[in-house]
Amino acid sequence: MSQFMLIWSVLWWINIATGQQCSSYQHETVKLVIKSQRNNTGHWVAQVSLNHGAYQHEEGPWELDVDHSVEKCDEEESVHLVATIAVPPRHIHVQYKLLPDLGYYRFHDVPVTWYKAVITCTAENGHLLILNSPKEFTELKKIWDASGVKGDFLHIGINDFDKEAVFVTVLGDSLNSTGYAPWGPNEPNSGATANCGALKRTGELHDSYCSNQFPFFCEKNLF
Ligand SMILES: *[C@@H]1O[C@H](CO)[C@@H](O)[C@H](O)[C@H]1NC(C)=O
Ligand SMILES: *[C@@H]1O[C@H](CO)[C@@H](O)[C@H](O)[C@H]1NC(C)=O
Repeated sequence: MSQFMLIWSVLWWINIATGQQCSSYQHETVKLVIKSQRNNTGHWVAQVSLNHGAYQHEEGPWELDVDHSVEKCDEEESVHLVATIAVPPRHIHVQYKLLPDLGYYRFHDVPVTWYKAVITCTAENGHLLILNSPKEFTELKKIWDASGVKGDFLHIGINDFDKEAVFVTVLGDSLNSTGYAPWGPNEPNSGATANCGALKRTGELHDSYCSNQFPFFCEKNLF
């Protein structure tokens, strides 16, 4: 028997002997198991277990919070047990900053083409910024202004590659459905050769040449 075979056999034997195995749950699937019974001292015991697949580099620890309260009304008592499990969001790039209610964002201050911006955000598990509200613009403008980068425009995740002047987001939704579409005066106005979207510091949208080099935000939605 070769040395390799021997080692392999020993490992295999240890696995069997310890009953060690990896249980794998389908990613995204949550399995909830409730077991209840009266034990032999007469207590009624209910055990709830929740199983969910997770890789360590994708999620932080799960938090479990159990609230226990008893309400008494005349002779009757009611017991409330509420368990809340909070799981941190997945795949958040370390340099993304959370803006509560809005999303996670990373500002890239080095100007690149629109295409490069799209690729950069995708590589970070995010997408090129899609604005959904004036509030989102206002909060991101603070970061943009504070960065000190010059220039009046940012790339944003909209384009009209498919149909001239009909802008859609990089996630495939119509611009009108985003909740933020304040075109600048006479915009979009640069015709069939300007197929990408840009955001002016004033908050207005402009059509823009995809080869223009602007800074940009990458975004990761909360939902
Ligand atoms: C029954 O459950 C109660 C509450 O968990 C526990 O204190 C008791 O020891 C259990 N009895 C047995 C025999 O396991
Ligand atoms: C978006 O909304 C504007 C203003 O309401 C409207 O003029 C335009 O036709 C809409 N565009 C699309 C593609 O639905």
